Amino acid sequence: SSANQPYRTGYHFQPPKNWINDPNGVMIYKGLYHFFYQYNPKGAVWGNIVWAHSTSEDLVNWTPHEPAIYPSQPSDINGCWSGSATILSSGKPAMLYTGIDSQNRQVQNLAIPKNLSDPYLTEWVKSAKNPLMQPTAQNHINASSFRDPTTAWLGPNKEWRVIIGSKVNRQGLAILYKSKNFVNWYQSKTPLHSADNTGMWECPDFFPALLHGQNGVDTSLNGPNVKHVLKVSLDDTKHDCYTIGSYDNVEDIYTPDEGSVEGDSGLRYDYGKYYASKTFFDNVQNRRILTSWINESSSVADDIKKGWSGVHAIPRKIWLDESGKQLVQWPVVEIEKLRANHVSLANKLLEGGSVIEVPGVTAAQADVEVSFEIKDFEKAEVLEPSWTNPQLLCSRKGASVKGSLGPFGLLVLASEGLKERTAVFFRIFKGHNKYVVLMCSDQSRSSLNQDNDMTTYGAFLDVDNRQHKLSLRSLIDHSIVESFGGGGKVCITSRVYPTLAINEAAHLYAFNNGNQSIKILELNAWSMKTAKIN
Ligand code: FRU
Repeated sequence: SSANQPYRTGYHFQPPKNWINDPNGVMIYKGLYHFFYQYNPKGAVWGNIVWAHSTSEDLVNWTPHEPAIYPSQPSDINGCWSGSATILSSGKPAMLYTGIDSQNRQVQNLAIPKNLSDPYLTEWVKSAKNPLMQPTAQNHINASSFRDPTTAWLGPNKEWRVIIGSKVNRQGLAILYKSKNFVNWYQSKTPLHSADNTGMWECPDFFPALLHGQNGVDTSLNGPNVKHVLKVSLDDTKHDCYTIGSYDNVEDIYTPDEGSVEGDSGLRYDYGKYYASKTFFDNVQNRRILTSWINESSSVADDIKKGWSGVHAIPRKIWLDESGKQLVQWPVVEIEKLRANHVSLANKLLEGGSVIEVPGVTAAQADVEVSFEIKDFEKAEVLEPSWTNPQLLCSRKGASVKGSLGPFGLLVLASEGLKERTAVFFRIFKGHNKYVVLMCSDQSRSSLNQDNDMTTYGAFLDVDNRQHKLSLRSLIDHSIVESFGGGGKVCITSRVYPTLAINEAAHLYAFNNGNQSIKILELNAWSMKTAKIN
């Protein structure tokens, strides 16, 4: 019950119990969304990995099915690790996934549906030719760093291409394989891309994004209207980082745009907890959707006690910003059907040092959208040239450190009296000939239980200089807070475990801890109904 399981989510995806990690093989087939994920059927810690399976008509309510892919042959007998779905030209789905073979090597396997007329696709048949790609003495691929095939795409000569994450010493690699028939694969002479000193690349994702507009496109599309995105999950830091660039499909080389930073100091999908994400193209609604694993910030002992670990993010629509320099993300619109008990305020002045409660919503399970108006930019604090790391800046200047323009934002999952609160906020600085907006998620006082990771997260928000309006949305769900700044230009997800601010005892506030007033132009909040999840 919710009384003894206060951290279980009301509308974020999770199974009834046990460990989960990466989303796998996400796709839409016959109008039904399929979601597979790394799952331990035997406990709340990682191990015994199979592909668990759920389907949904709306990305909100989920029906569970039996595990779809599980160890059954020499090429995957020690585990069925991450992989992706490709919709073949015939419309048939095919799964490429990493198997841990009988010699504990990482190899790539194929599984296809047994019965294509069953929209639930509950039964999967493995190729008799498995493994289709494997480390050999000739290819020098490291057998413990060769995993997580992407969705394949079609290039010239109607050949399929797929990349697999790898590394050589400290160099991260996207090893490229090609095939005409999806069964016989050969390795391309050069990787699609690599970067020095980035460590192992897990769960790569490679896709085109339109230069203009929010629509998504098929993974095989290339041409003058698109840029390409390469996302890699950096094993060393557990961050999902991406670059934007161009893909030469004749040479089969991806080149990040000039100024695009590789590795951990580059762009991230999310500046909090967000790992091993994967996108797919939803050809019914012409959008690209991003799904991700959000792991716990609690101790392993606590995970075992509560009997589960890991949730998945609310699926996000993802597109290229008009600047062409970053991606933008927004929770899929379907999630809004869970909204109830609308509460709103408008044109409310938040004076320096004030905290106002947003009453009338179930603050433990809510969706909040707020826009702030900023005046008097001249009053902003000066940004020291050495303050280049936004996460560090957020932890030095947390929500309780007074400023000038900010910190202002929301206190979520807060207890009455604010002994516990998670603060999501902005702070505005005067930089060298421009104003700089910092967005933070401060978990330092999220729980009286000190046995959790309460790291503060942060990022700089690239908005028009002297933008007078700043928006923030937070999806709050018991132990997870997903926040979207500037319409989805910066996303920060955190996991928190309040001891007081649970269920009906949770509160929601807006605050301003700067000495300048900030106006709330509009605030809309809703209680979120509980979704049917597994
Ligand atoms: C990422 C990852 C993948 C691997 C899977 C195993 O979280 O380590 O690289 O395939 O999880 O469960």
